Amino acid sequence: MKIFIDTAKLDEIKEACSWGIVDGATTNPSLIKKAVDTLKARNENIEMEAYIKQICETVGEGKPVSLEVISLTRGKMLEEAEILYHKFNEVADNVVIKIPINTYNGEDTTSNYDGLKVISELSMKNIPVNVTLIMSSEQALLAAKAGAKYASPFAGRIDDYIRKNLDIKFEKQDYFDFCLMEVIGEQRFYERIEDTSGKPPQSVYLDQEIKKCSNFAKDKGIGSGVDLIKSIMKIYKNYNMKTEVIAASIRNARQVREMAETGADIVTIPFNVIKEMIGHPKTVEGIKSFVADVVPQYSALFK
Ligand code: E4P
Repeated sequence: MKIFIDTAKLDEIKEACSWGIVDGATTNPSLIKKAVDTLKARNENIEMEAYIKQICETVGEGKPVSLEVISLTRGKMLEEAEILYHKFNEVADNVVIKIPINTYNGEDTTSNYDGLKVISELSMKNIPVNVTLIMSSEQALLAAKAGAKYASPFAGRIDDYIRKNLDIKFEKQDYFDFCLMEVIGEQRFYERIEDTSGKPPQSVYLDQEIKKCSNFAKDKGIGSGVDLIKSIMKIYKNYNMKTEVIAASIRNARQVREMAETGADIVTIPFNVIKEMIGHPKTVEGIKSFVADVVPQYSALFK
């Protein structure tokens, strides 16, 4: 499994790269804003072109750096993709263009398919595309059909969506307990089914409350962000699709482990979560005792 760092903060990218674990980086306009705001707070100015060149250089030759377009229509997205690719790919031959699967923003439905058009046009020109804002397996299937090099399903945002629909309060970093959700959902389902005993099967099948219970804590049958990645991996495998899955929108270390178990090709991880992955209280305890147990005869070897 490859690890990408999900940030536009150069100091975080430099630090994580120095640990030898970074295979690429992903940015988006919100991550760029966070980087700019952090520098502003330190009274530092940013010269965007030089800054992005430094990101590409730091991540290194051939290790993909995703840069996202900002427009919502075909023509403009294509123009921006070409600008980003030609300005920055020469630095380390590692630029990937991020295109949203669907640029519909609640106003103009004609832009529903512009993302797909751009993905296929860029892919035909051999400009690698990372399809972003994927929230369903159906969208991931279309991204692969359009020729995307990478598909980025937003696992954390699906967990957020499911919990929000259930009015569950949570912090951004909280673990999404899909096993618990499943158990609660099953309980509700069986309680409801028992209520209907004696009724004809067709009325049970059409019962709206039962339908709700059988889809409890699910987004059209998808029970969590991890579930979404599993489903996409399975579909791509079924048809030998070459698009690589980047599990994105990662919230905590346990979620990274679950993503690795799904066989996701890549997980893009925020810097704080990469840091969280290294810790365990028993490791701290172990280090303390190893240091305390060093005998003089052994330490003499190093003198
Ligand atoms: C990366 O490609 C995505 O843009 C990023 O993981 C989104 O993460 P978020 O849901 O925490 O904003």
